[in-house]
Amino acid sequence: MNKDKYRPLYHFTPRSHWMNDPNGMVYFNGEYHLFYQYHPFGMTWGPMHWGHAVSHDMVHWQHLLIALAPDEHGQIFSGSAVVDWNDTSGFFGGKPGLVAIFTHHDEYPGTERQRERQSLAYSSDNGRTWIKYSGNPVLEDPRYSDYRDPKVFWHEASGRWIMILATGQTVCIYTSPNLMEWTFASEFGEGHGSHDGVWECPDLFELVAPGNPQRTKWVLLVSIGDAVGIPEGSRTQYFVGHFDGKLFVNERDPEAVYWLDHGRDNYAGVSFSDIPAGDGRRIYLGWMSNWKYAKVTPTEGWRGAMTIPRELSLRAVDGEIRLIQRPIAELSKLAEETLLLKGLTIEGNMRLMQIKGDSYLVDAEFVLGSATSFGFRVRVAEEGNRATIVGYDSRSGELYVDRASSGEVLFHELFPGKHGVALVPRDNRLRLQLWVDRSSVEVFSGGGECVITDLIFPDPQDDGLEIFAHEGNVELLSLKVTRLNSI
Ligand code: FRU
Repeated sequence: MNKDKYRPLYHFTPRSHWMNDPNGMVYFNGEYHLFYQYHPFGMTWGPMHWGHAVSHDMVHWQHLLIALAPDEHGQIFSGSAVVDWNDTSGFFGGKPGLVAIFTHHDEYPGTERQRERQSLAYSSDNGRTWIKYSGNPVLEDPRYSDYRDPKVFWHEASGRWIMILATGQTVCIYTSPNLMEWTFASEFGEGHGSHDGVWECPDLFELVAPGNPQRTKWVLLVSIGDAVGIPEGSRTQYFVGHFDGKLFVNERDPEAVYWLDHGRDNYAGVSFSDIPAGDGRRIYLGWMSNWKYAKVTPTEGWRGAMTIPRELSLRAVDGEIRLIQRPIAELSKLAEETLLLKGLTIEGNMRLMQIKGDSYLVDAEFVLGSATSFGFRVRVAEEGNRATIVGYDSRSGELYVDRASSGEVLFHELFPGKHGVALVPRDNRLRLQLWVDRSSVEVFSGGGECVITDLIFPDPQDDGLEIFAHEGNVELLSLKVTRLNSI
């Protein structure tokens, strides 16, 4: 069988072998850098390295050599990278340069207890070669055994570097003048949000406050590791609040849990550092898999993909602030031919004979009618018996993806299934944006408030597209299907 039958056409994947979290995402000298947790000799998780790729648009990527490999301090776990503009570290002789801040993972000597410490590496040649700092590690605390995934940023107001670190069931915040000496500032998490699994891969950043362009809010992302008895596996939650350079304060109900994504396959995502002020976007991407079954997904020769990059913003929904995700504008470079339909009443199933393919964007607007559910069946088999369903259930008020009959699903008992999120259509209208690739669907609706990211493994021959309305009708105001090119 074709080794690359599931290899996405426009999502980032490693050339070969295992990949998990995105790491060190940073923009510098005209290039976006993407590093990633990488096992260069295995198809499952193993001794962690940082793989590396660069891009001019976050869409087309060029693979580079491995940036960081395990050393005497252990494996290279997740972390971030920053531009040290003012050479606060002294690594760059007064010029700007790139500094990576990551977790060294090994065991406490003479024990099996895991030891995690934070370390630095720097590059004076646009990330092509990396030197590990001779004073590594720069931050340790033997009270913790889960102590990882540092995300660092420059905090203008206090003139300090800030590090946010995952510390078991909490995150800790540290400050530093030079990236080497770190001072504890605060801890957040007890009694807040979900503690279904270990806290990992935090990120903390500022976004414009909804309805008040003069003010900002701070968003804290926290990924929650997989745990026994949690069928959803690993997923990411977010908090909204304020931050004064030392302390993060959650402004919403501490007990409420807000998920970033309502599918199963968006984990350990963080945002790019140093996007130029004139651009001003906060851009996020995640690892498109789930620790529940990541090591048994049916790809050959490579394993793991990233989500499409998404621009983050905040919006007030019914008086409450929500995180909004929108695919970045650069993705329109992938657009090829387009099919347009307008003003159709849909009843039953309608196969769009003009569209056959495994990689396209569907953008549709519906007016709700009498149908109890409606939407699309993508990657449909000739005989119609296999498909991934992306629909809206008007009775339960839920947007959903059903991948139970999407193709190969039996590699893990928790893979098949239906994943949804509550959505109240405004003015009885529903807009659906659906990004389909060879082994994934990413659904955006409710103006970017409702997102579902799911892996699928359909047969390459299953290339049909259908619109459906069950037990009644729905009006399709407009439909645009855009074929997407390979990167
Ligand atoms: C998240 C994670 C991180 C860790 C890395 C190891 O998926 O568990 O906490 O640094 O993966 O590969």
